[in-house]
Amino acid sequence: KKKLILDVDTGVDDAQGIMVALVAPNVEILGITCCHGNTPLENVLKNTLRVLKVCNRLDIPVYRGCSGPLLGRKRHAGDYHGKDGLGDVPDPDAPGLELLQKKNAVQAMIKIVNENPGEVTLVATAPLTNLAVAIQLDPSLPKKLKALYIMGGNIESRGNTTECGEFNFVADPEAAYIVLDRYTCPTYIATWEFSCRNSLPWSFCDQWLAQKTKKAVFMKEISSLSMKKAQSADYQKEITAGKGFNSCDTYAVAAAIDDTVITESEKVAVTVELEGTYTRGMMVLDYMELQKKKHKAFIMKKFDLEKFKQMFMNSLK
Ligand code: BDR
Repeated sequence: KKKLILDVDTGVDDAQGIMVALVAPNVEILGITCCHGNTPLENVLKNTLRVLKVCNRLDIPVYRGCSGPLLGRKRHAGDYHGKDGLGDVPDPDAPGLELLQKKNAVQAMIKIVNENPGEVTLVATAPLTNLAVAIQLDPSLPKKLKALYIMGGNIESRGNTTECGEFNFVADPEAAYIVLDRYTCPTYIATWEFSCRNSLPWSFCDQWLAQKTKKAVFMKEISSLSMKKAQSADYQKEITAGKGFNSCDTYAVAAAIDDTVITESEKVAVTVELEGTYTRGMMVLDYMELQKKKHKAFIMKKFDLEKFKQMFMNSLK
């Protein structure tokens, strides 16, 4: 089985990604490490446990990670994911945080990867703070990963958070810089524009959520706010053009489970802009290889949507 660590800021699309990974028959989730991001860390922890509870998988270890970026102020995405990060639907039966592991997320990442050298695939769908700190503490970490899948960054300077910046990178540009500077394992990136261009048609979403299961009821509740937002006039101005729902994080998770879903990618060295009035946090593609980086990342371009849809359907069964 593929050994995965999921590094999340649960969020609606993180929840969708986690649920896709939980039902993948070829996957073993060694741990879920939580990071600040879509919502404050305390909510991320609670949301992750809520998702695992609905799926009867509270046996998976969940770890508390970094509560803010390496530099600068915290950013959250409450407008889209809800103030609580999962659509603001009250859950009186949410599991308590006493279920969390005692070890912190960064220590756990280092330990798990060192115990399974060359075998662990890390899927990072949050700001990259946990991984950046882990790399600073153990610089050999990237070499010991089997692969790294990231949801973040952008390819055409099109932002969803600032003019030119995608949320996960803008929420911790220094962390993204460190990770992209040091990766040595095969690294795959699902960018903002990529996820928009491969959005799930609304008719499919209806079918997906119409399944008569406890998981589907939960998913419908938590996704309702962000789906409404994605269908709103404001959002349609963005490149999704209201064509469908882009479950950004799930592309990275799906690709980690089965990399044949990536039907086209581009190999290019990448970094992150750390300054700039409008461009801080923007991903920079070094096509001219001016930076002489040894390693290039695979920037996802096209996806097998049919396989992706099947994974979505299975996740709520
Ligand atoms: C990313 O930001 C978050 O809102 C989503 O969860 C995703 O990780 C998209 O830019």
